Amino acid sequence: MKRIAVLVSGGGTNLQALLDTPITGGEISAVISSNPNAYALERAKKAGVPGYVLEKKDFPNYTKALLEKLQELQIDLVVMAGFMTIVTKELFEVYENAVINVHPSLIPSFCGAGCYGLHVHEKALAYGVKLSGATVHFVTEECDAGPIILQKAVEVLQDDTPETLQKRIMEQCEWKLLPQAVDLFCQDRLRVEGRQVRILEE
Ligand code: GAR
Repeated sequence: MKRIAVLVSGGGTNLQALLDTPITGGEISAVISSNPNAYALERAKKAGVPGYVLEKKDFPNYTKALLEKLQELQIDLVVMAGFMTIVTKELFEVYENAVINVHPSLIPSFCGAGCYGLHVHEKALAYGVKLSGATVHFVTEECDAGPIILQKAVEVLQDDTPETLQKRIMEQCEWKLLPQAVDLFCQDRLRVEGRQVRILEE
């Protein structure tokens, strides 16, 4: 059974999707929040999953502190689910192809430093794209640029606001793709070949 840590900073609806979906070969063993007030911690508590707070201001080297916690908890897979803190390469040296992130756009559009949460949808609407969606990818040193595991698109509607677009993308894309990618990882069905992620048959 693979031990999964979910990293959060806010509301935790993606964490909830993970808690609500049976994962073959994996269990959510810890929720680590960069924000002590994140509602995601309540969700963890309700589900009986241990929650930990690791605030950036408390550590001179945040990535090192995070890595120590993950290793202490014997974590096999790290899932970033609305985690708004940038980490450095030390994490990926240990957890190579074992950190997964969900991003609310079709990467490589509307991603990279400063592009997170509602800002992503503001940018998509300002650009006038007709399709947007979500991407689940392995995390590497370069922000939002790791190998793509799954993507799903939705239509952008004429009267969308950042909030309505965010809701559609969460409901139709993020909450489905993230548990699906985690499930595939835990079944050892993801093979990274350069930038490509091959999904192996059952
Ligand atoms: C989600 O839309 C997630 O894709 C996004 O933040 C939101 C968190 O919501 N993440 C990023 O923008 C990362 N670059 P949640 O806390 O309800 O899961």
